[in-house]
Amino acid sequence: MATNSTFGTLGVAAVLCVVCSVMVSTTAVKLKPMQEQNKSLDIKKNLLISAGLLKNTKATKSEILSAFEKVDVKVVDLGSGSLLEDVNPNKVDLKKEAKDPNFNIIIPGNKDIAKIKTRAKRSKVYFVKADGEVSMIVLPVYGKGLWSTMYGFLALAPDTKTVKGFGFYEHGETPGLGGEIDNPRWKSLWKGKELFGENFEPVITIVKGAVDHSAEGSQSKMDSLSGATITSKGVEALLRYWVSDSGYGHFLEKFRNGEIQI
Ligand SMILES: Cc1cc2nc3c(=O)[nH]c(=O)nc-3n(C[C@H](O)[C@H](O)[C@H](O)COP(=O)(O)O)c2cc1C
Repeated sequence: MATNSTFGTLGVAAVLCVVCSVMVSTTAVKLKPMQEQNKSLDIKKNLLISAGLLKNTKATKSEILSAFEKVDVKVVDLGSGSLLEDVNPNKVDLKKEAKDPNFNIIIPGNKDIAKIKTRAKRSKVYFVKADGEVSMIVLPVYGKGLWSTMYGFLALAPDTKTVKGFGFYEHGETPGLGGEIDNPRWKSLWKGKELFGENFEPVITIVKGAVDHSAEGSQSKMDSLSGATITSKGVEALLRYWVSDSGYGHFLEKFRNGEIQI
């Protein structure tokens, strides 16, 4: 075939297309396990940072894995609050399941305070252990801010109501405004906050300005981010949603009552 004929040109282009597409798909398939590993490592790192178990945001893989040895991951059925011991947590993708009609529930409008529309029927819970005892329970939480869905981890003390750490690892709020949810000073203020009232009803409230620490109930009040009331209220709403009976409430109650042994 003459290379400068129309057929020749088309032939070369066709061969080139096939070769390139084979190369791209082979690379994509080969890199997939590595991408999955990096994703899983990133989730572990963010969880450890939110729970205050890792300070260095540039921690190496071995530092992350070594810190994560203290963490026991389980899958929980949110409806009953029971652990699903036969489900492998590594096979559960919460974001995917939240969107899959086989795995999700539609949240009724009047209950959808976190504005997420659907949620997976099950979730992961992370138990941090110290001297054989659970020292912290870490819960994945998410909900709408002003512009985006904000994904984070909430670390609770074994009393299930006191915050030990809280942070977001993915959001699209405006840097300097809603993006200040990542501000280390603001994040540090969450430590010691109490999410529930006397009867374990969610009472955590984000108030405009600074909390008056001498006022009664101040342990359940948190400073709003200035110029970002909408994001702040989104944070309040998602926390209230996830610790209520619509979220982890049944699980937290079972844990408090000693029905869940780790
Ligand atoms: C470009 C732009 C970006 C904004 N980003 C945010 C944001 O990420 N989160 C937020 O709550 N408010 C954001 N706001 C401000 C809101 O529109 C609103 O004014 C604010 O939440 C009210 O908070 P304040 O009562 O504390 O001023 C943004 C405003 C503008 C003009």
